[in-house]
Amino acid sequence: MILKLCIVLIALLASSYATRKLPENFMLGAASAAYQIEGAWNEDGRGPCIWDSYTEEKGLDNGYVAADSYHKWQDDVRNAKLLGLNFYRFSISWSRILPNGTINFINQKGVDYYTNLIKALKAEGIEPIITLYYWDLPQYLQLLGGFLNSRLVEYFEDYVRLCFELYGEYVKYWLTINEPFTICYDGYGSGGNAPGLQQIGDGVYQCAHTVLKMHARAYRVYDEEFRDRFNGQVGLVINSEWREPKSNSSLDLEAQERALQFSVGMYANPVFVGNWPQVMIDRIGNRSAQEGFTRSRLPPFTEDEIAYINGTHDFFALNTYGHYMVEYQDDEPISYPSYDFDRSVKTYNNLIPSGFMLRKKLNYLQERYNPKAILITENGYRTDDILNDADRIKVLKDFLGNILDAVEEDNINVIGYSVWSLIDNFEWGSYKAKFGLIRVDFDDVDRKRTWKDSGYWYQNLTSTRILDD
Ligand code: NOJ
Repeated sequence: MILKLCIVLIALLASSYATRKLPENFMLGAASAAYQIEGAWNEDGRGPCIWDSYTEEKGLDNGYVAADSYHKWQDDVRNAKLLGLNFYRFSISWSRILPNGTINFINQKGVDYYTNLIKALKAEGIEPIITLYYWDLPQYLQLLGGFLNSRLVEYFEDYVRLCFELYGEYVKYWLTINEPFTICYDGYGSGGNAPGLQQIGDGVYQCAHTVLKMHARAYRVYDEEFRDRFNGQVGLVINSEWREPKSNSSLDLEAQERALQFSVGMYANPVFVGNWPQVMIDRIGNRSAQEGFTRSRLPPFTEDEIAYINGTHDFFALNTYGHYMVEYQDDEPISYPSYDFDRSVKTYNNLIPSGFMLRKKLNYLQERYNPKAILITENGYRTDDILNDADRIKVLKDFLGNILDAVEEDNINVIGYSVWSLIDNFEWGSYKAKFGLIRVDFDDVDRKRTWKDSGYWYQNLTSTRILDD
């Protein structure tokens, strides 16, 4: 009898370890971005954007057809419904509704496209979460200087006001700008993303200065003109991979903190604390002076701007994938100006994804920025073109398990999680990397969609809300 009881107890204990229930209000979703899925690049009045010209110029694969979601959006909604998503995060293509990016001409067909999509999602009980800017700047605005022209703040203001007017009644979560770090570092520093500029010494910072003012303007417009009416929430999507110090030596810990401040801090500090991180102000100022500049390459914010940007958050929107190892290194001697020298840490990409590293990051963000809530707006895993994607399932489970630990044991208010991505898509230059829960056949004119194992797994998770091990 006692033996039997023991066996039952052990089985019970084991099962409570093996399965975990998601918190009741925890939202599960999936994400996409206009340029990566829509295609129809020159249809129904869409204006050109910087990814059209960048891919053309570099001879890369492009998003001209992509997953053809401009025509197949009903399939996407149907799949989102079948997956049991609480929300679908997608982005609006600025040049589809304002072909030049400017407010003087509104493209009604573009407007209708998003109205239909949003209404169809709502009809299925799926919350639309909208990203206003996801890297596809209207080409016309690039000709005016893109993010190096601070007038972009005003153009963005006109565009977001229009979006709030048009869709605000249906949308509870707005995301202003996706991954500013990638926009500025890859777009204006390394040149690896559109518009492909290589101005690592100052373009990166000028871009960040503009991005932060754009985000703040969008937040303030919503706050002042729409919040009473629609009662939604607005956030900036910050990406920063966790930096794990190589050792616990004080120098490696200093390198870790500096690397974090030069990435996540660069965008989170102005929004959650006020102004650039001090370590950036000091280091870039010092190096600029030694390089012979009369002022810092990091454009300062005025007191008014600091106050205007500070506090423009209703939650912390986080894109999170892998992590980097960091190690201290001595400063480079003064040579050409570069963000990399300003930051000066030895770093390498640890390609092994780890949920535990994500948990550390969540704790760091909570401690530094004390957000009311954290919404994971992207998390995913890249595979080859396979349907039996057991590795993806394993990695996503590990991430979700650690998110649950952060919620339950560290008391961090993570309110939702979004898989990147709903469907396979254009991975910024090629179609090789696959992130979707659903496969897209890019050789098929019809862009046939086929569920992967991870899609079925996610469907099971959304219906049972139980995370097994
Ligand atoms: C983050 C970007 O936001 C997204 O567009 C991209 O596809 C994923 N990383 C995967 O690389």
